[in-house]
Amino acid sequence: MSRRENAVISENEIQRQKNIISEIKSKLDLNNKKRYAFVETYGCAQNTDDSQRIVGMLSEMGYERTYDKEMADVILYNTCAVRENAELRVFGNIGALKAMKAKRPDLIIGVCGCMMQQEHIVEAIKKKYKHVDIVFGTHTLYRFPEIMSKAIEKNERVFDVIDVDGAIAEDLPVVRENTTNAMVSVMYGCNNFCTYCIVPYVRGRERSRDKEDILREVKTLADEGYKEITLLGQNVNSYGNDLDEDIDFSDLLKMVEKVEGIERIRFVTSHPKDISDKLIDVLANSNKICKQLHLPIQAGSNKILKAMNRKYTREEYLAKIDKIKAKIPDIALTSDIIVGFPGETNEDFEETIKVLEKVRYDSVFSFVYSRRKGTPAAKMEDVITLEEKKKNLARLMDVQAEISREKNKELEGKTVKILVEGPSKTDKTFLTGRTDGGKIVNFPGDVKLTGEIINVKITKANAWSMYGEVEGE
Ligand code: 5AD
Ligand code: SF4
Repeated sequence: MSRRENAVISENEIQRQKNIISEIKSKLDLNNKKRYAFVETYGCAQNTDDSQRIVGMLSEMGYERTYDKEMADVILYNTCAVRENAELRVFGNIGALKAMKAKRPDLIIGVCGCMMQQEHIVEAIKKKYKHVDIVFGTHTLYRFPEIMSKAIEKNERVFDVIDVDGAIAEDLPVVRENTTNAMVSVMYGCNNFCTYCIVPYVRGRERSRDKEDILREVKTLADEGYKEITLLGQNVNSYGNDLDEDIDFSDLLKMVEKVEGIERIRFVTSHPKDISDKLIDVLANSNKICKQLHLPIQAGSNKILKAMNRKYTREEYLAKIDKIKAKIPDIALTSDIIVGFPGETNEDFEETIKVLEKVRYDSVFSFVYSRRKGTPAAKMEDVITLEEKKKNLARLMDVQAEISREKNKELEGKTVKILVEGPSKTDKTFLTGRTDGGKIVNFPGDVKLTGEIINVKITKANAWSMYGEVEGE
């Protein structure tokens, strides 16, 4: 069997887990008491997607979701390992549950996800956080029913973390958080080994889902009324590399486009080295694929890009951007930037600023470099202080805010198509929605418009948000 076939979890095994879900449900139903689960997610869209499966499994076991820990019978943290501050928050959160567990010994406390794929973290939980009942990693998510069953039945601590290349588990139950945009994973894992990044170690090797499974999921979502989907993968442009079939991400996009009812298609993340002319053409010629590209450059200095093992130079990256802009003039571009990678001087950092000024991204996610144990960069030395790094980050954010503001201003007075997502979280008298380019627009309107694609005239544009009014009212 090929490595990929090995990664696919058999239908029998998934069915076995579903049977365990039914057993748990029948037992809990005997108690005739409502049960609640609190699930908190850290990190990227992949983790959110995993949490939706966990909540799906919990829901079929008979647990209703709660956002109040006091009410919960199960508390679960789905963790992220990309930067240290997310890890510290998780440790803080589980530490704070010690007293609650002492008062309510039946409470099940669990931690799962990327952090758990690191040995030193699991060891710390084993030894120092003895009130944590269940621990499982990214590759054993589909075994969550079995893990829960052991924790409920035997009242013992369950650690289920395996170090394999990765798994593909189809047909797990799912409860989606977002009612207007649905995430669909197309591939898992990463083979790129950028020297700062923990992802290849905690998410395993690249593996693609079969196109039939992806298309089936997209069709189901269209039937449920979703108009927008986001195709997910650590590096979507590697889609198909591990499949016997001759298929790449552009081919997949063209198939997804044919699904009736889906009107908008987004995808993240694309590694700049893998953006092909074919993909740019598919994007340029489609009226369903949103004109938005997240193309993380990470740093502007060639010396740093080399040390990061990004496999492109600044010039190669900028040439691709030029090509994209020439073929798709209204493209919205976004990026990720790491400030303060080991060895980055203030002069190197200036190169990053120059890239921002040249590309003029619509928005940028920027982070101070965080040392990740076990990655090659963890052993590299710094040449500037943390203070300087923070100062550089603040400056970068200022430069980008101005660019974002100017780019958004260009939309003032224009009419744009918005997919309405529902009431705004910050001001309930407004609705909120997104443009084709992924920008958030707030406007007064009837909540019944949720899920519709409507015309909105932009009346005011700021750096991070825009305001508008429904056209034709
Ligand atoms: N430190 C800071 N940022 C990181 N990222 C990945 N690893 C690290 C790290 N060790 C950022 C990259 C990536 C995004 C998801 O997180 O910019 O694109
Ligand atoms: Fe991490 Fe690089 Fe893979 Fe992205 S492409 S997940 S940054 S190793």
